[in-house]
Amino acid sequence: MRALALTAITALGAPLPVLAQSSPLPEVLTGHGGPIKSITLADDGRRALTASFDYSLILWDLSAQPARILHRLLGHDGAVNDVAFLPPPGGAVSVGDDGQVILWDLEKGSPKTVIPGAPVKMLDIAISPDGRWAASSAWDNSARLYDLQNLAEIARLPHRAPVNAVAFSADGARLFTAAGNGEITEWDRASAQQIRPLYRHGWGINSIALIAPDRLAFGGLDGSFGILSLASNQVTQLAKSERPIQSVKTSPDGALMGYGDGAGQVAVFASGSGVLLERGTVTYGPVWDFAFLPNSPYIYHVGLDDFAALWRISPRDFGPIEAELPRRFQIRDSEDPGELEFLRKCSICHTLTPDDGNRAGPTLYDLFGRRAGSLPGYPYSPALAALDVTWNAASLSQLFDDGPDIMVPGTKMPIQRLKQVDRRDDLIRFLETATAPVD
Ligand code: HEC
Repeated sequence: MRALALTAITALGAPLPVLAQSSPLPEVLTGHGGPIKSITLADDGRRALTASFDYSLILWDLSAQPARILHRLLGHDGAVNDVAFLPPPGGAVSVGDDGQVILWDLEKGSPKTVIPGAPVKMLDIAISPDGRWAASSAWDNSARLYDLQNLAEIARLPHRAPVNAVAFSADGARLFTAAGNGEITEWDRASAQQIRPLYRHGWGINSIALIAPDRLAFGGLDGSFGILSLASNQVTQLAKSERPIQSVKTSPDGALMGYGDGAGQVAVFASGSGVLLERGTVTYGPVWDFAFLPNSPYIYHVGLDDFAALWRISPRDFGPIEAELPRRFQIRDSEDPGELEFLRKCSICHTLTPDDGNRAGPTLYDLFGRRAGSLPGYPYSPALAALDVTWNAASLSQLFDDGPDIMVPGTKMPIQRLKQVDRRDDLIRFLETATAPVD
C-alpha cells in the first residue's frame, strides 16, 4: 500500500489531519465463533483485542498478513462485552455478561486474576491513565470501581438506571458515568462520591469518550452525537443519526473522534473543530464498536459478523460492502419446524459438525448417547462436567423444560426454556437426525 500524503481531502471537503500508513493492514480479523461486541487496539497499533458473544477474546497480531491469532483468551462464562489494554507493564482487562472482571496476562494468554461478581451484564470497562484503577458499568444500576494493584472491587456507585458507559478523567481522579435514563454523572474516584450531575439527555446514553480534558463526547439511543463541556455543562449536538449510536471513540492522538450507529454507519469528526470529515455505511447491521488505527486513515469495526473489518476513512471506501447475506446468525427459512427452532435458539452458540467452530457452546455433533460435559477439549463449567446425565430425548427435554439453570445449577449456558411441548419435541427430533454422526 502506498503511503498517503500528509493531508487528504475527504469526500466532505474537509482535510483529514493524520495520515501515514506504511505496512498493509489485514482486511479482516477472522477467528471468532460469534458476533463481536468490542475491539480495541494497543497504542502502537500492532496488536488488537476483540471481545465476542462466543465467550472468548482474541489477541491479534496486526503486523502479520493475514492477521495472526496470538492468543484466544478463555475464562468468561458469558458473552464478553468490552476489553481494554493496560499501560506498561501490560495486560488487559475485560467484562461481560457474567459479571466477572478478568485481568489477562497477554504473554501467556491466560487469566492473571478474576475479580468475581454475581452474574450481571457489564457493557463497558475503563482504565485510569496510570493503569491503577478500573471502572465498569453494570445493569444493576451501578458503576463499580476496582483497584488493579490490590485486585479488588473497592466501591459501587449507585445510579437510577442501568449504567451503559464509564470513562476516567485525564488525570484519573474523576470518573464519568452514563446511564440508560440519559444521566451523565461525575464522581470522585478516591471517595467514590458523586461530585455532580453533568447532564440529562432525554434518551438513554449508550457510549461516552473523553475527547479532551474538558470535553466528553456522548452517543444516545435517539441517535444524538454530542459534546458536553465539563467546564460549562453546555452541550453541542454535532449530528443526529436515524439509529441509536452504539459506540463513540477517539483516535489515539485525540485528533479524530467519531461514532458508529445501529444501521452500519460510521461518522468521523475533527475533535478540535467538530467538523464532520467523513461518513459512510461500513456494514449491514449495527456497528457495535470500532477503533481508530494510530496515524492512519483506517478503522476496524465490529458487529453482527464473526470477523472485524477494516474501513478506510479517507479517501473513503466507496466500494460495495462485502458481506455474505444472510449471515450465519440470521435466520434462514426452513420447512422443518425443529430446524427453525435450532436456527433461532441454538445455532449462534452450537454447531452440528465435529468442530465447535469456536462458538460459545460445545458442538452438538454426536450428542445422543454423549455423557454430559464429556467432549474432550471443550472448557465445560464444573457444574456441567459433574452432571451425571447421558443426553437423549428425555434428558434434553428436561433440560429445556426446567431450564439449564435448574437442571444444572452453575452452568454457563444461558437461561432459556422451551415450554411449548410440540416445539420442544420438534427440536429434539431435528437434533436426533442432525447430530447423528456420518460415517
Ligand atoms: C448463548 C449461547 C448458547 C445458546 C443460545 C445455547 N447454548 Fe447450549 N450450551 C452453551 C454453553 C456455553 C454450554 C456449556 C455449558 C457449561 O459448560 O456449563 C452449552 C451446553 C449445551 C449442552 C450440553 C452439551 C454437552 O456436551 O454436555 C447441550 C445439550 C446444549 N447446550 C444444547 C443447546 C440447545 C438445544 C440450544 C437451543 C435450544 C442451546 N444449547 C442454546 C451455550 C449456549
